[in-house]
Amino acid sequence: MQTKSYLDYKSIIAELVEAVVSGDGINRENIYGLLEYPPDSDLGDLALPCFKLSKVLRKAPQLIAAELEGKIEPAPYFTEVKATGPYLNFRLAPVPLVQEVLGQIIKLGAEYGGRTIGRGQNIVIDYSAPNIAKPFHVGHLSSTVIGNSLFKIYSFLGYNCVGINHLGDWGTQFGKLITAYKKWGSAAEVKKGLIKELMRLYVKFHTEAETDPALEEEAREWFRKIEEGDEEALSLWKWFKDISLEEFQRVYDLLEITFQSWAGESFYNDQIDAVVDELNAKGLLTESEGATIVNLDAYDMPPCLILKKDGSSLYATRDIAAALYRKKTYQFVKALYVTGIAQTLHFQQWFKVIELMGYQWAKDLVHIPFGLVSLKGEKLSTRKGRVVLLEELLTTAIQKTQAIIDEKNPGLEKKEEVARMVGVGAVVFGALSVNRIKDVTFSWEEALNFEGETGPYLQYTHARACSILRKAGFSTDEDLVFDPEKLAEPVTLKVIKTLYLFPEKVMAAAAEYEPSIISRYLIDLAQDFNGFYHGCQVLVDDPDLQRARLILVFAVKTVLATGLGLLGIKAPEQM
Ligand code: ARG
Repeated sequence: MQTKSYLDYKSIIAELVEAVVSGDGINRENIYGLLEYPPDSDLGDLALPCFKLSKVLRKAPQLIAAELEGKIEPAPYFTEVKATGPYLNFRLAPVPLVQEVLGQIIKLGAEYGGRTIGRGQNIVIDYSAPNIAKPFHVGHLSSTVIGNSLFKIYSFLGYNCVGINHLGDWGTQFGKLITAYKKWGSAAEVKKGLIKELMRLYVKFHTEAETDPALEEEAREWFRKIEEGDEEALSLWKWFKDISLEEFQRVYDLLEITFQSWAGESFYNDQIDAVVDELNAKGLLTESEGATIVNLDAYDMPPCLILKKDGSSLYATRDIAAALYRKKTYQFVKALYVTGIAQTLHFQQWFKVIELMGYQWAKDLVHIPFGLVSLKGEKLSTRKGRVVLLEELLTTAIQKTQAIIDEKNPGLEKKEEVARMVGVGAVVFGALSVNRIKDVTFSWEEALNFEGETGPYLQYTHARACSILRKAGFSTDEDLVFDPEKLAEPVTLKVIKTLYLFPEKVMAAAAEYEPSIISRYLIDLAQDFNGFYHGCQVLVDDPDLQRARLILVFAVKTVLATGLGLLGIKAPEQM
């Protein structure tokens, strides 16, 4: 339920309805939960479906709606309260709506839609987490941009967020890489080709290993050496890691993403023994074919692997160690993990282990999966070299934007900066525009499409609003008083109703861990605004009308910029 800092029609209605019905378990909260925005606004702006009430009151929903119609006084917030079949429909009174919504945006500016509900609470967000010595490819884009957006959304709600890049910098793949480097690589080639060369070596290892299984053994041996702290093995590992980090950093710079912690998997090496001891002391460990596991039969899951035959740790072991460390270090109220859906079982398993260890806070661990990214209908695969590099995608998008600007607006100030904001914005919005669980097929065409419902369309709408304000000499330094009666046309009210929804959408995006709620909302807002812009001239002779319309433009510009910011997208003032 929303707190009261914003005009909240749902709680107004819940209060009105509660006052006139009484029944078992009917209260303000659950009435609030029943309220809907009718798909067809001809019927009303908000509706109470009476089906659930009908069960409690033992009366037909139509009858309940009809009775409520007579008992509820619409003024001052509504112009009409009317029963239509089983629904009680409410129509908003324009003046208080316009006054309140625009008043709030004027007062709060970039803070409109934000809250303080998270004050004093920490949320840890584990996202991006590419693997060392593997390319940073489009498969990691979703984790990176969803995590970053959740970081911004929760921060906007007042939480103190900690972004952690749990780098994949440990595991047998490093043994493979060293083996391949020793056999087919050279320092000079690696210095020249960097990650591309590391990837070539990694791919080569896998093709060769198909016919020469002894290579796998050799790779295990090298990884064992890394774990034992062998000097040569460790220094190669460190070198490969530095090369990777340098490339990753270039991508993060383009996206303007930063992390509070870079503790990757290797960071937990010296905490593994303690984890194993604790699991053992709690009687959770069993042996299975030489490996050490936590049996999860009772929960219909395969066992969680803790130690391999040779005593080395696994992905899950390091995740358990990391969770204990994070709880101790950050006292989180929630720990979020943003990864592909393929890892769902992994998270279910080790979350269960934490619960079995007796930690209440196991319920605060949340896996946030996203759908598969494929390429021309095939799974991305580092081993097979079937990847699209994120850096290449971003720089291509920037170049394309540059070319469009050169053609359409060659005199634009700060051309390069704008090209970067828009090119990157297109890619980021593309990744955040659909429900995160949906599988996506990467296509260059779509990623670089700036028409229709895209990031550049939103940025362009924002820039257009800025340009109207500039032309009118609009300034927020003046007293922003206006006559709400001037904003009563349907196209205008439509925009204001959409602006009203923003705080609610931010809350929903947080509750569902779903940035696409904000993306879709922004598209609606931009479309409503463009409807207004085409229907109503802003710069007109009547100074009061112009003033009111300018304030609306200002409000839209403000919310577009805030919303784009929550997605991790910049909003240039000119483009
Ligand atoms: N490095 C992993 C991958 O690329 C993702 C790590 C996610 N975070 C975690 N704590 N397991 O698949």
